[in-house]
Order: sequence, then C-alpha cells, then structure tokens
Amino acid sequence: MSGPAANRGIAVLASGEGTNLQALIDAAARDALHGRIELVLSDRADAGALVRARAAGIHAVHLPPGDWPDRAAYDRALAALLAEHGIGLVVLAGFMRILDAEVVGGFAGRMLNIHPSLLPRHRGLHPHRKALAAGDRVHGATVHFVVPELDAGPSILQYRIAIQPWDNPASLSRRVREGEHFIYPLAVRWWLQGRLDCRDGQARLDGQPLAAPLVVTRDMAPVAVCA
Ligand code: GRF
Repeated sequence: MSGPAANRGIAVLASGEGTNLQALIDAAARDALHGRIELVLSDRADAGALVRARAAGIHAVHLPPGDWPDRAAYDRALAALLAEHGIGLVVLAGFMRILDAEVVGGFAGRMLNIHPSLLPRHRGLHPHRKALAAGDRVHGATVHFVVPELDAGPSILQYRIAIQPWDNPASLSRRVREGEHFIYPLAVRWWLQGRLDCRDGQARLDGQPLAAPLVVTRDMAPVAVCA
C-alpha cells in the first residue's frame, strides 16, 4: 500500500441488508482488500449490515437520526466518530442518507459510493424502475467518488448487464447486485493500494485520468476490465 491513507482503516456506512458490506468483509478475509474494515455505521437499528459486521467481529454502531436535533448535528456526530476511529476511507454501501457538504468535503477523494445504475443515468431513488420505464437495453451499477451533489461524483467502475424482456425491478436489482459484489471490492482495493485517486474532479487509475468509467460486463466478469 502507498499514499497517506495507507495505514488508515475503512468505515462502511449502510442502511440495509449489507450484501455489499459482506462482499467487502469476504474480500478482506481473503486478503484481497489490502485494508481493514474498522467500523460499520448505520442509521437503522434493523440494518442487516450491523448483524453482518458484528458476526465478522467489526465494531458496529447504530446512530439513530432521532437522537440529534437536525441533519447537520447528526452529520457532525458521524464525522466525529469517523475521526475517532482514524478512518481513511469511507465506503457508502446503501447508506440512505445524504451527507452534508462539510462531511463530504472532509473526505474529498476518500469517499466512495455504489449506485445501481449506469451513471449519469438514473440518479437517486428507483433506478431499476427508471431504467425499465426508459426502455434501456443496458443497465448496471457504478462505483464513484462522492461529491456533495447526489450520485454526481467522478465515476470509476461500472458493471453492465443487458436488460432482458422478462426483467422487472426485482430481477434487475438481484442481477445488478451480483456484479456490485465484484466491482466494489475491486475499486476499494485499488484505492487502498494507492492506485486509485481523484484529481481535478476526475478519477485516476495508476495516474491515468479515467475519461469514462472502466467497464465490467456480465459475460466478461470476473477478470476482464476494459476502458
Ligand atoms: C445496492 O444496490 C447499492 O447499489 C445501493 O444500495 C444497495 C445496497 O444493497 N447503493 P446492500 O445493502 O449492500 O445489499
């Protein structure tokens, strides 16, 4: 590993089931992540992610939004927790809250998200439904650096599938998520290895700006990655 964050831990923020967290936990267990998940944080007490973290012996914290007077206070508490744990990289994995610009700015180039669409298409909620309604033939997921604007940061890596005539939002969610479990640990590893960074609003891999995200397609997974 190289870079200023080399010895610093990862925090995963998740509100839901935590299957992406599990993929990261599994990659770390295989020594394929080149880093350690120090902290898992959720806004929901019933998040599967908390259960998965505890089962893996990772410090898991439930931060209930109702305990703070407003969003800014909540985000300050969250940032304090990240600082307390010396977090170098924040990985958003289905965290269903928008973080304020101050927190995001404090982790510029050090915060990743995965969104289940081929960004910039279908930002925000219900991307599978939107892809079907738009008649898209290709769909997928995107790993990107986080900026204050929702789902708008520089893209790094995409997983693409062909939409089939029988697809519905549930089938797309399931099929896209399978690929997420491959691309997210890969991007996190690149970052921890010091291969991935963000400069002048653009993602770079091995010092080369990514004019477009790298793409993994269903038929090419697990190894082929092309620009
Ligand atoms: C994933 O589809 C991810 O793309 C989105 O939220 C979902 C989280 O799923 N940001 P899980 O909790 O990791 O299973």
